[in-house]
Amino acid sequence: MRIDISGLTKTYKGRVPALDGLDLIVPTGMFGLLGANGAGKTTLMRILAGLLRPTAGKIRIGEYDVTARAGRLAVQRVLGYLPQDLGVYPDLTAREFLDYIALLKGINDRSARRRRVGELLDVVALTADADRRLRGYSGGMRRRVGIAQALLADPRLLIVDEPTAGLDPEERIRFRTLLSQLSGQRTVLLSTHIVDDVAQTCRELAVLASGRLVFRGTVEDLTRRADRRVWTLITPGPAPAEGTIVSALPDEGGMPPRDTSPRCAPRSPARTSRPGRARCAR
Ligand SMILES: Nc1ncnc2c1ncn2[C@@H]1O[C@H](COP(=O)(O)OP(=O)(O)O)[C@@H](O)[C@H]1O
Ligand SMILES: [Mg+2]
Repeated sequence: MRIDISGLTKTYKGRVPALDGLDLIVPTGMFGLLGANGAGKTTLMRILAGLLRPTAGKIRIGEYDVTARAGRLAVQRVLGYLPQDLGVYPDLTAREFLDYIALLKGINDRSARRRRVGELLDVVALTADADRRLRGYSGGMRRRVGIAQALLADPRLLIVDEPTAGLDPEERIRFRTLLSQLSGQRTVLLSTHIVDDVAQTCRELAVLASGRLVFRGTVEDLTRRADRRVWTLITPGPAPAEGTIVSALPDEGGMPPRDTSPRCAPRSPARTSRPGRARCAR
């Protein structure tokens, strides 16, 4: 399902626009939406899910015009949404929770509901834990329950808002793999502020900043932009005083801060405490 967004603007009362004339086409498959906190990712996703009305602009999802009421209702039938802050009932088991949501979604036949919930628990690899209370679930397991509820109606469009935030590395990889598998037959729109999530799963992505599109293209195009701008410096001593350090990781030989300043590029390798070991971080 292709999404066509043009001139999309959302201004919350008394604020600067959260989305500011956004034009974007999202093709079928898995697509990444990358941006820092406050960039407008959640606002965009809530508008696509029909939960929030835009101030201006047009959106088509597949054959539907989401700016019209009829289109919004039609889209809600083919859409699954995992919000950034999905609340679960801690005293329910995963199976009970999904059964409850399925009932709310209108799957009234008890045996159909039981079958569908069973299938989805399998898809998200929670069958073995399905009868444990959600209270004891890890963050990653809860996120997988969230995906299961978003898949109840077998949606052609799946919107997932920052699903990997707060997950440990193993769960994050597992979750990314699950989303890739799900994108086979549908559009999966994944928002994140973690570049790696998108790099590992999406061929194409958009980067938002202050409600505007600042990049749209492939992961390779984006990393090419970092070429000769982002560097890894290996240093056993303190971080260099110049430049902007965007991350610092402990290493067996010292602390390699990542630096976005071209001043620290190998052009002046003497700045690194181990000349020749400075390299592009990509
Ligand atoms: N309900 C709201 N009322 C007022 N301002 C909001 C609301 N939701 C988001 N914003 C503002 O809109 C901007 C975009 O927020 P959001 O869409 O949540 O970005 P992201 O999901 O990328 O972090 C931010 O400046 C945020 O403070
Ligand atoms: Mg958000």
